[in-house]
Amino acid sequence: MHGIIFLAMEDFLESRCGAGAWSRAMREANLVEQPFTPDRFYPDEGAIDLFAAVARIVQLPLTETLQQLGHHMSAGLLSMGRSMGLIQEEWRTLDILERLSTEILTAFANHSTGVIPPDIRTYRLKYGEVAVAYLSGRKLCPLFKGIVLGMGAFFNEPIRIEERLCLLENAPLCRLSVYLDDPALTKHINIVREFQMVHSRILEIRFFNTFSGIPVVNKGLVLKYSPDSVLVQICSESLAAMAEEGVTYLALPHLPQGLRAVVAAVDQTQGTALLQEFVPTDGAMGRRLVPRVIPNQPVAIELRINRQTVRGWIANLSEGGLCIILPRSPLLDETLLFAPIQVRFSLPAQKVDTAVHDAPTTKTVLAGNLLHMDEQEERHRLRIVFKPLTVNDAHLLRTYYHEREQIAYRRLSALVASIKK
Ligand code: HEM
Repeated sequence: MHGIIFLAMEDFLESRCGAGAWSRAMREANLVEQPFTPDRFYPDEGAIDLFAAVARIVQLPLTETLQQLGHHMSAGLLSMGRSMGLIQEEWRTLDILERLSTEILTAFANHSTGVIPPDIRTYRLKYGEVAVAYLSGRKLCPLFKGIVLGMGAFFNEPIRIEERLCLLENAPLCRLSVYLDDPALTKHINIVREFQMVHSRILEIRFFNTFSGIPVVNKGLVLKYSPDSVLVQICSESLAAMAEEGVTYLALPHLPQGLRAVVAAVDQTQGTALLQEFVPTDGAMGRRLVPRVIPNQPVAIELRINRQTVRGWIANLSEGGLCIILPRSPLLDETLLFAPIQVRFSLPAQKVDTAVHDAPTTKTVLAGNLLHMDEQEERHRLRIVFKPLTVNDAHLLRTYYHEREQIAYRRLSALVASIKK
């Protein structure tokens, strides 16, 4: 265990029980008193015995002690992370958590000495939610919760943690969801304030729609706004897609979240749309790196997970991953979060480059990880992220996307032309 954990423990104990408490904890843990340094690792056994001794001295159950220790040490971790250049000034609790395994804890790995960072996997599902799988053999999940809550307190953010499975209750992992529980930020949007800002600075807004399963993304301007509605100017393609969908999604340059609005009226001759009933979306809009396509006909898919096979249909697909719908299955539960999976499917591409692929109906087999699972009306919806694709697989998915895109844009142009006649 890294020296900073021992130093944090010492500071925590002495701030509660005064000078001398640390020496007592060391004695009770049968450890020779020694100065710990923040650049070394020490045996885990010593730390576990110390946690127990500290809990006895502060007279709290071990889990509560660890949680309070986590809360106490979070500000120190934050300043250490900032001084090491691992944490940027503007990041808040969920931003840090999102990067914990990929950018922060990995900085402490040392392959020559065999030090590997604790197995804590996080994934940002929404602007206000991070999914966590805690698999560290040290079973320090209360410490984890304490650090998260301490970060929230530091940034004055209301953080809520839900724990669905716990290692301490003999589950194979801890499955936690960390929420930014801020109704003012996540539920309430002041339309006048937000649109006044983009209108007065003549800032462009990005509008997101889907047409024939393909994203239609364009920039537009705000012409007028009132507490109930906003009049925007945007190109004919987006207007046609908005009219067909009845809703649109917007990314305002200054808002971390996206907005969803009902399209009350579209005027192709004026090039305007009247938008109403704005609500914040679950996540940021426009940060997706690769576009998703919704298949225009059912695409069956087989999923191999833990040597079992389940079958369903592709809900949407990109070069980054896919979403699958399947009948509710007892084989699927929260313990599978982040588990490695394999998917097999055939894309109904019309003219895949046969020099690269044997035939258009060749089965594609891709590996990835299960990121998220929710259950609705007897159906499971799974989100899967792909491992880096081979050149051929990336080419196949790109070809499928471009073919669907061409068909969708031909339809969209025809629709716009017929409206303008
Ligand atoms: C939301 C923020 C964070 C959470 C929830 C968190 C959580 C944890 C937990 C639970 C452990 C115990 C390891 C285990 O269970 O095996 C740990 C260890 C550690 N953390 Fe963090 N941490 C956070 C941020 C940071 C930051 C900002 C830094 C430093 C810049 C940091 C550095 C470390 C180090 C060095 C260890 C010891 C690793 C080892 O001994 O193998 N953590 N962290």
